[in-house]
Amino acid sequence: MTGFGRRDGLLVCDGVPLETLARDHGTPLYVYSGAAIDESFRRFDAAFAAVPHLVCYAAKANSARAILARLARLGAGADVVSGGELRAALAAGISPERIVFSGVGKTDDEIAAGVAAGLLAIHVESVRELEKVSAAAAASGTVARVALRVNPDIDARSHPHISTGLSENKFGVDIARAREVFERSRALPGVRMAGVQAHVGSQIFDEAPLSRTACELATLAVSLAAAGFPIETVDVGGGLGIGDGALTPEAYAAAVLPPLRPLPFRVLVEPGRAIVGRAGVLLTRVLYLKREREKNFVVVDAGMNDFLRPALYGAAHAIEPAGRPSDESVFTDVVGPVCETGDAFLRDAVLPLPREGDVLAIHDAGAYGHVMASNYNFRPRPAEVLVDGGAARVIRRREAHEDLVRLEAE
Ligand code: LLP
Repeated sequence: MTGFGRRDGLLVCDGVPLETLARDHGTPLYVYSGAAIDESFRRFDAAFAAVPHLVCYAAKANSARAILARLARLGAGADVVSGGELRAALAAGISPERIVFSGVGKTDDEIAAGVAAGLLAIHVESVRELEKVSAAAAASGTVARVALRVNPDIDARSHPHISTGLSENKFGVDIARAREVFERSRALPGVRMAGVQAHVGSQIFDEAPLSRTACELATLAVSLAAAGFPIETVDVGGGLGIGDGALTPEAYAAAVLPPLRPLPFRVLVEPGRAIVGRAGVLLTRVLYLKREREKNFVVVDAGMNDFLRPALYGAAHAIEPAGRPSDESVFTDVVGPVCETGDAFLRDAVLPLPREGDVLAIHDAGAYGHVMASNYNFRPRPAEVLVDGGAARVIRRREAHEDLVRLEAE
């Protein structure tokens, strides 16, 4: 069995009982299935096999070095959004000609690093950024490959915090102005305008915004190529959702490929969550069972600082006991120790009645989990464990108090 499931009543990750991992490594603990990551990457990659393509894994979803290195070995490229992610991707063995560099606010240092690395593309989001990339490349005697991120004014119908393709959003250049920006680039010696990109949002369940985006990009790329620009790539971004009702990678490819398939461009795609989301859980231990005025609270040792999605987006992540579930159930909130009311993982949920000390698994925590953890309340960030071929290894140790105070001064 790949990923998470029950064996002899116990929840296991690739055969390893999660209770054992919690006992050996402590909680809160992120646990990833290496086999599930491989499987989702391979399946996604295969779904695009009908066209020349590159899957540029969105490193922001989970930038653990062991995971980046694993994906590199499977042939993944990367979509990075900061100088830090660029360094992490290169260090993990992803070659620069497989890396695209996104981001609406790159610093001069980040632009210089992107230019020096010789990336597949720097995705520029404004004319000013384009000028800066050109200047940086020209100063170092090179020409940077650039793709323009356009904003197609398409509603991804996802959570407003993670919808990015509306004209009111900060991302990209209005698609109606794309031609003008490309024309402007003719006077810039340090850039080769080799592609177009759009990313309209994340955790998208609906194929319409995804296929519309692909259509808009295809039309734009054809017209730019006809105008003499050396278009090589069309990048449809990421955004494929996970969970009940999500599109399969095959359905996703079927939604975006029709307008692109006949064209002579390489298709780039930047999935993050779809590759790692389901391949991770957050393990947490029950500290207390509390009942106040008819309301039950299961108080656990993980907080919103460890896993922010429920507090930030109201995201519902299924929770189940890692051990044998009790036959009795309870109507309860599952809350963390942080001093905020928003620090709740589930509200008004029905769960098998846990006992103090039980380990619970919070599902679908492989993407935007550890990477969004913080030290709020002076809490050390959790360790991360990767299960690989039946063996578990720590790929990032738990922070110690000393790690938190190390950078402080009197
Ligand atoms: N490409 C670009 C340019 C992006 O901005 C993103 C995500 C992706 C690709 C990958 O999107 P994915 O395939 O993972 O949906 N923290 C939020 C998600 C923020 C996504 C930001 N950009 C969450 O926890 O839901």
